[in-house]
This record gives sequence, structure tokens and C-alpha cells, in this order.
Amino acid sequence: MLPVKACIFDLDGVIVDTAKYHYLAWRRLANELGFDFSEEDNERLKGVSRMDSLNILLEIGGVQLDEARKEELAKKKNEWYVELIAHMDDKEILAGTTQFLTELQKVGVKIALGSASKNAKTILKRIGLMEMFDVIIDGTDISKAKPDPEVFLLGAEALKVEPSACVVFEDAVSGVEAALSAGMRVVGVGSKETLYKANDVVSSLAEMTLDRLEK
Ligand code: G6P
Ligand code: MG
Repeated sequence: MLPVKACIFDLDGVIVDTAKYHYLAWRRLANELGFDFSEEDNERLKGVSRMDSLNILLEIGGVQLDEARKEELAKKKNEWYVELIAHMDDKEILAGTTQFLTELQKVGVKIALGSASKNAKTILKRIGLMEMFDVIIDGTDISKAKPDPEVFLLGAEALKVEPSACVVFEDAVSGVEAALSAGMRVVGVGSKETLYKANDVVSSLAEMTLDRLEK
């Protein structure tokens, strides 16, 4: 394994807890369609693209719709989500994030974002972390959702770093799988039981150090 030259971060669930806003917007949509949507159901949507999330939601509600109507509903959900994230600020950056990014910068490890979200740049701007990233790959750049490795491979390519010198930080099972298929090492952010495929697991970036990264 090469020494670490780059770190690629997922956004939702690693840098900020936007799952709660996605949940509120999806639940509002479910309620409008006449069914309930629990927080447990919401776990299934982590790391999943907007359209795939809608399909899971409709399956839970036992609702079948044509593509045009689905597009309309995905748009509606996103409008509610955008309203919710418009109020975000730097207080929502998860513990340890700014400190770890600063340490990486100091030692010259490159930093990229690898997110499925089309709202990633809006969120980074709101929380004031945009400038910390050398490269941003988001939902507007990719054609294949995680667990496909595309998002992370594009990140490594843009940074001009070989995949085996990259470490990915991910909270979703599909994201851990994507990183492994990209030939990268991966640190799971969350629970060991869920993210057991990852090379290492931390409960938040507050547990990360440069030493731990090299191991
Ligand atoms: C991330 C989140 C998912 C979300 C996806 C697309 O992967 O974990 O919950 O559905 O991004 O986000 P978007 O903001 O484009 O709807
Ligand atoms: Mg995530």
C-alpha cells in the first residue's frame, strides 16, 4: 500500500448530519401520498441517489407511479430539502471535521469530496468549508450511484493520485463498497456492526489522527 496522498470524504453523514433534513422532506412526501415513513425506513436511503430513494419510498408505501410523476415528486422533495438546508451554518459541521481537515492540509495530503448529492456545493458553502477541498465530485458529475466506484475514481483522477494512495471516509454501506471497488482504503464513520467491511471504523472524525490514517 502506498502512503496516503489523498483523503476523499463523503458529505452527508460524515461532515454534516443532513440525513435528518432528507428524512423530514421524504416523510412530508410520504404523508402527502397517504402513508407514514419511519426513521428506521430512512436508514435505507443513506448514500442512495435521489431517484433510487424515491423508488424505495414508493415501495414502502406500496405506491406505483409513472416516470413523469416520479420526476415531479423528486423535484418537490428536493425543493423542501433545499428550504431546510438553507438555514444550515458552521455549527452543523460534525465533531472533529475542521480539525482533521486542517491537519491533512498542513502535511500536504490532498482533500476531495465524493458525494452523491446534487446539493453538496450549496451545503459546503453554507457551512463555510468549500475552500478546504482541492476537488469536489458530487451528484452533478456522476452517472452511476454508489456502490459503483465512479465518484471516488473521478476524485482520485482529478487529484492525480493513484487509488491505492487514497483513503475514503464513508457512513453508508454502499459508499464503503464503492471505495473498496475503487481499490481504495476506507474508514467507516458510524457503527462497526454496519460498516464491518471498512478497513477501520470511527464513530466520528473526532477520533481520526494522522497516525491512525497511516495504519
Ligand atoms: C447522499 C445522501 C442521500 C441522498 C443523496 C442524493 O448520498 O446520503 O440520502 O439521497 O446524497 O442527494 P440530493 O441532495 O442530490 O438529493
Ligand atoms: Mg453519506
